Amino acid sequence: MMDWNNNTGVADVRTCVRAKDDVRRECMLLNARTVAASAGADAAIFEAVVQRLLETGESRVWKAREIIARMREQAADTVAACGSPEDGTDLSTYAAGYGKIILLGEHAVVYGRHAIAVPVSMAIRARAEDSADQATRLTIPDWGIAQELAGRERGRSALVQSLELILKHLGLLARPLHVIVRPGLPRANGLGGSAALAVAVIRALNRHCSLGLGDDGVCALAYECERLAHGTPSGIDNTVATYGQPLIYCRNEARKMRPLLFPRPLPMVIGFTGVPSLTALTVGKVRAAWQHNPVLYERIFDEIDTLALQGIRALAAWDLPQFGELMNVCQGQLNALQVSSPELEDMVQLARRNGALGAKLTGGGGGGAMIALCPDQGERVVRALQQAGYQATEVEVGSAH
Ligand code: PMV
Repeated sequence: MMDWNNNTGVADVRTCVRAKDDVRRECMLLNARTVAASAGADAAIFEAVVQRLLETGESRVWKAREIIARMREQAADTVAACGSPEDGTDLSTYAAGYGKIILLGEHAVVYGRHAIAVPVSMAIRARAEDSADQATRLTIPDWGIAQELAGRERGRSALVQSLELILKHLGLLARPLHVIVRPGLPRANGLGGSAALAVAVIRALNRHCSLGLGDDGVCALAYECERLAHGTPSGIDNTVATYGQPLIYCRNEARKMRPLLFPRPLPMVIGFTGVPSLTALTVGKVRAAWQHNPVLYERIFDEIDTLALQGIRALAAWDLPQFGELMNVCQGQLNALQVSSPELEDMVQLARRNGALGAKLTGGGGGGAMIALCPDQGERVVRALQQAGYQATEVEVGSAH
């Protein structure tokens, strides 16, 4: 029988209640995600639809369809109001946050191990201007997002929360501003979209309001936004998004980031599963598993660390077959962390069968993107992926922006 006067007992009950709340929240999130997917929310608006479903408390397919339709209408209005790059908008007036791929080391990097990341040519761009009225607004026409910070919308979606955090840190909460974002990077695809978005918005505000914030300040504030997005980020995404250069990252070292010089560009293929990669979810799942089985999971993180360190040497020697092999083994370890998915496994196999030297998921996993090292067979791998119904593209990585 439990002793109710015993503090330990009371603490146990509180822990139990908290755990039940966590489970309830997880279930609601999972349900909202299933509903958003069934209603046809694509990767670009998926997260926003899930958030709105949770806000309304009505996770039904009809509601999701209504939300998607409203977002598309708003997108059409705002595209008309802001102009689009296809309409000749001058993107040089926009500030950039860079997308990235992690070549080796995702997830383990959260636990202080090494990772290798490179920027991709895709970036998110943002521009700030004084608001025509008294409201502060965030507009992302291509994602169908047009949100106002004042009144009812205050503090509601993760995007708005992130913008509020930025405005607060920059001392701009009282100044009505309009932030327009042009994403050249898909959302929720394991390419560091949320960090790139934060960096672009911070830089846009910094430029428009002449705040004189340097790259280190931009990177630190983007890290705070990442914390809001997924609780325990390693800091690798905001670092690449800010500095736009290939790097070796280890949060446990005094010098967290070291530039990585490539003798020449690395020929890769990026394939998209079409399933959103929800980093918060996979990072949370790995954390729960690690808490449950710390010794087992620490060993996997150590293995991934070794692969990343060997990868640095293989790249310096330009030993691409060896680097490909390390990617393949790393995919096995990521599978052990249970962050792969049927689509990712399918794409990895397709890439390897069609001549890739190595293939693995990149970023949070659970969906999102796969990368393959393809010095010779890039075209063939892209074709095979496309024939199987995936989007894929050849990229060269390894140079700085
Ligand atoms: O899914 P992305 O692009 O946000 O990458 C996440 C990388 C992780 O290692 C899984 C998390 C982190 O913060 O490093």
